[in-house]
Amino acid sequence: MTTDTAPTTTAKPVLQASGVVMRFGGLTAVNNVDLTVGEGEIVGLIGPNGAGKTTFFNCLTGLYVPTEGTVTYKGTVLPPKPHLVTQAGIARTFQNIRLFANMTVLENVLVGRHTRTNEGLFSAILRGPGYKRAEAESREKAMELLEFCGLANKAQHLARNLPYGEQRKLEIARALASEPGVLLLDEPTAGMNPQETRAAEELVFAIRDKGIAILVIEHDMKFIFNLCDRTAVLVQGQKIVEGDKETVQNDERVITAYLGAPLEGAAEGTSTTAGTEDDQ
Ligand SMILES: Nc1ncnc2c1ncn2[C@@H]1O[C@H](COP(=O)(O)OP(=O)(O)O)[C@@H](O)[C@H]1O
Ligand SMILES: [Mg+2]
Repeated sequence: MTTDTAPTTTAKPVLQASGVVMRFGGLTAVNNVDLTVGEGEIVGLIGPNGAGKTTFFNCLTGLYVPTEGTVTYKGTVLPPKPHLVTQAGIARTFQNIRLFANMTVLENVLVGRHTRTNEGLFSAILRGPGYKRAEAESREKAMELLEFCGLANKAQHLARNLPYGEQRKLEIARALASEPGVLLLDEPTAGMNPQETRAAEELVFAIRDKGIAILVIEHDMKFIFNLCDRTAVLVQGQKIVEGDKETVQNDERVITAYLGAPLEGAAEGTSTTAGTEDDQ
């Protein structure tokens, strides 16, 4: 007999981690973590410093080969090679910004497009019509992305001369240049002032509205709970809870291990950053 009850998960999985374990010698940094990011979703990943959040991202993006477990993108197991992972459709930003400091803003985004251009080395050396056409198209797309991220007026500036908040935005623009289906953001608002943080929130919503699913690590709880459809909490490598804002905020284990104090601020507008120091 058929029923009309809603399925437990509605979003089609884009990125799916199953039983991911990452050990460094005797240390288990990520311990049997399952996590799914569905189409159209913004999923949060929170937890104290050293909980394994960045290591988990590294496992998702091929930087580390997980000791155990699998990662699939749209149903296909990912090869553990960063460039192949990017090519498949996963893009990321780094907790410690990794830009080409002496390249312009535009050039940084063009580098990010590399995996989506078909022009080979010979074509580039000969600079024939195919190369010129591809280059013009790349520049146009890169400029569109800079416009989208609010950096178009800085296109010709050197990346190293951008204020910190704009460097973080540039990392996002560069990640988007690979035309991902899912974007992983590792502490995108670290070092931003409250205005920049609110602008980053709008940017993340706009990226989601383009059809790109998002997984985001942050310590700013207001940012996380404003944005995320679901949030998972990692403590000592293990996912201790996953759910909506209320579920996470009210979970005793999360309060004890991470949030510490009640979160009125997160609900009402005071910026609430869970108590950890900046680490990297
Ligand atoms: N390449 C590595 N080699 C050894 N230990 C590592 C490595 N990367 C991370 N770790 C350790 O794994 C744990 C989790 O770190 P990390 O993923 O950076 O945590 P988080 O991002 O949640 O702050 C820490 O104890 C850290 O020292
Ligand atoms: Mg980290």
